[in-house]
This record gives sequence, structure tokens and C-alpha cells, in this order.
Amino acid sequence: MSRVYNFAAGPAVLPLEVLLRVQREIPDCGGAGMSVLEMSHRSKIFEEIIGQAEKLFRELLGIPENYHVLFVQGGATLQFSMVPMNLMRRSKKADYVVSGHFAEKAAGEARKFGSVAIAGSSEDRKFSYIPSLSATSFRPDADYVHITSNNTIYGTRFPSFPDTPSFPDTGAVPLVADMSSGILSEALDVSRFGLIYAGAQKNIGPAGLCIVVVRKDLVGFAGKETPVMLDYRSYADSASLYNTPPTFAIYVAKLVFEWLRDKGGLSAMEKLNREKAAILYDCLDGSSLFKGAADREFRSLMNVTFVLPNEELTAAFLSEASAAGLVNLKGHRAVGGVRASIYNAMPVEGVVALTDFMKRFEVAHKIR
Ligand SMILES: Cc1ncc(COP(=O)(O)O)c(C=O)c1O
Repeated sequence: MSRVYNFAAGPAVLPLEVLLRVQREIPDCGGAGMSVLEMSHRSKIFEEIIGQAEKLFRELLGIPENYHVLFVQGGATLQFSMVPMNLMRRSKKADYVVSGHFAEKAAGEARKFGSVAIAGSSEDRKFSYIPSLSATSFRPDADYVHITSNNTIYGTRFPSFPDTPSFPDTGAVPLVADMSSGILSEALDVSRFGLIYAGAQKNIGPAGLCIVVVRKDLVGFAGKETPVMLDYRSYADSASLYNTPPTFAIYVAKLVFEWLRDKGGLSAMEKLNREKAAILYDCLDGSSLFKGAADREFRSLMNVTFVLPNEELTAAFLSEASAAGLVNLKGHRAVGGVRASIYNAMPVEGVVALTDFMKRFEVAHKIR
């Protein structure tokens, strides 16, 4: 078997242990004599799988009892619509922090349902930083405030995270966070949020699945015309089994959660993620060829973005890296350059292999 180091932004690398377990259990899952792919979502074995997935996810993040955990299809993008459809319930106002492409999309979708104000934007410098916010950035009568905790394309993250005291207090206004590319990468105080959502294909499992963590008092306010599959209540009332859920994705997510638990949970993962990011950023900071794309204080732990002096060198870097087994390093088409996504399942060895390669590349292509 030959595995590459896969730096893709998502769908992304999964732990090898998880992939091998899936392979082992494909012919016979849990003694059923069939794979999870062939199993009824109402079967006892699958009910155990989804129940365990929720339990482990709750334990990893320390999710309080007054929150639902919902397994929803449609990726994170569907949440751009479901959030306003369910949460714009009183003033029909919502405030969005536009820190990147996905935040912009989320705000655009919310505009279809009510009044959207931009609480802060970093578009002026191509989303290379996080806009500064204060308590006055938000309307006190807004139904919610929306942020994107980690900006996958630009490689930025909120430095004063919403669960730290330095993040401006939104008062009684619920804070909603798209955590698609940051979830499970570090410890988190869920109680600071009204709702968190995360597409699965980075730190959770297969694409298509999205996990929504929502405070119970925020559910049940979607308008009467809301399609049943777009109402959080349908998921909350049925333990995410209103219809046939993405069973395989939920099964793989459960295995990823077991893997995380066995690795020591989120504090151990955070330590490792900080170590991996530091190796890569130190390499960038010590280089005269590579340059980090995001402002230092907003650097992401998950998506490390950088540039080379010109297109030619960038193309050479990407193709030589790929030949060396370091793949999917091309930056998002909107920004170009290089992006190394180093999610939980990327081992330290992968990051070291990348920085060793970068140092060799720099020596070979020294600009005189
Ligand atoms: C932060 C963020 N939000 C939303 C999305 C959209 O996710 P999906 O393609 O699952 O709808 C992505 C995808 O990469 C993302 O990184």
C-alpha cells in the first residue's frame, strides 16, 4: 500500500486506522452479516451507531444537555439557508462578519429571509485578516450574529475566539458559527454559542453530512411554510432519523470520534495541531522564498496559505511536491498560491516531510 500526504482542504485526509477499520467491517458490520451500506437506518445496529456517534461527539466537545446535536445532509452550504429560515424569528435581522468567501455566501443566503447587516468585513485586503469587532458592531435586536471561525480558503481564524473573554459580548443575541474547517481541532466552550454547524469533510468524515449543534430554546420557530427537511425541529424530534440519513457518513464519523477519543480528545489534538502549525509557520518565517499569505495574528491552525514570488515557481513547486508524494497543495482557485491543510488526521510526519521538501526546493531555486 502506498499512501501520499494529502493536504487537501476537503474532502480531506482521514486517519488510516479508521480507513482500515471501515475496510475490515465492510463485509460484516457489528455481526450483522452485512455492511453498514446495506443496513436499515431503523435497525438496532444502526441506531446504536448513530447513538454512539452523538454520544462521542458530545463527550469530545463537552456539549451541554440543553443543546441538540443534529445530523443533517446538504453540507455546510445548506446551513447558510437553514440558519436564517429557523433563527430569523423575531426582528428578522441578522448580523454577519464577512471574513471570507463562505461567510459572504452565508450572508447572501440570509438576505433572502430578512435584514442582514455586515458587522465587519476583511474584503478590502482580500480576506487576509479577521475584521476587528466590538460590542457595538452588532445590533442589539438582531436575531443572531454569524461568524466563520476558520476561513478555509484564506487560512485565517479568529484569534480571540468566541469562547475567550476578549471576544466581544453579543449579549442576549445568539452567536452562530460556521466551524466547518475548525471543529474538533481544539477545545471549545460550546455554551457561548447559540448554534454551531460544520460540514463533515475536514475533521469529521465523508462529505455531504453536516453536524449542527443548536441550543434547544432556538428550535421550533421556523415559519409554517418551511419544508420539513429544512426545519431543525424535524431532526430534533426524531433523533436525526426523520428520513433515511447519510448512514455511511455517520458510521465513518463515529469511527473518527472513537479515534479522537483514543488519541486523548481535543486538548491532546489541540496541542498536536499547534505543534504542526508552528513547524510550518516557522519554516515560512525563516524563508526568503515562501511568504505566508495571512496576517500573522490571524493565522489558521488548519489551513496554512502561502505564496511564491511568481506563477512559474508556484507551478514548479506544486508539481515537484506532488511527485514527492505531497499532494493537493494548490491554493483555492479564488486566491492561487499554495495551501497546506493540516487537519487532525495529518500526522506530524506529513508536516515535517512538507517543510523538508520546502527547504530543499528553496535551496534548488534560490533567487540570486
Ligand atoms: C468554512 C466553510 N464553510 C462552508 C463550506 C461549504 O461546505 P459544503 O461544500 O459542505 O457545503 C466550506 C467548504 O469547504 C467551508 O470551508
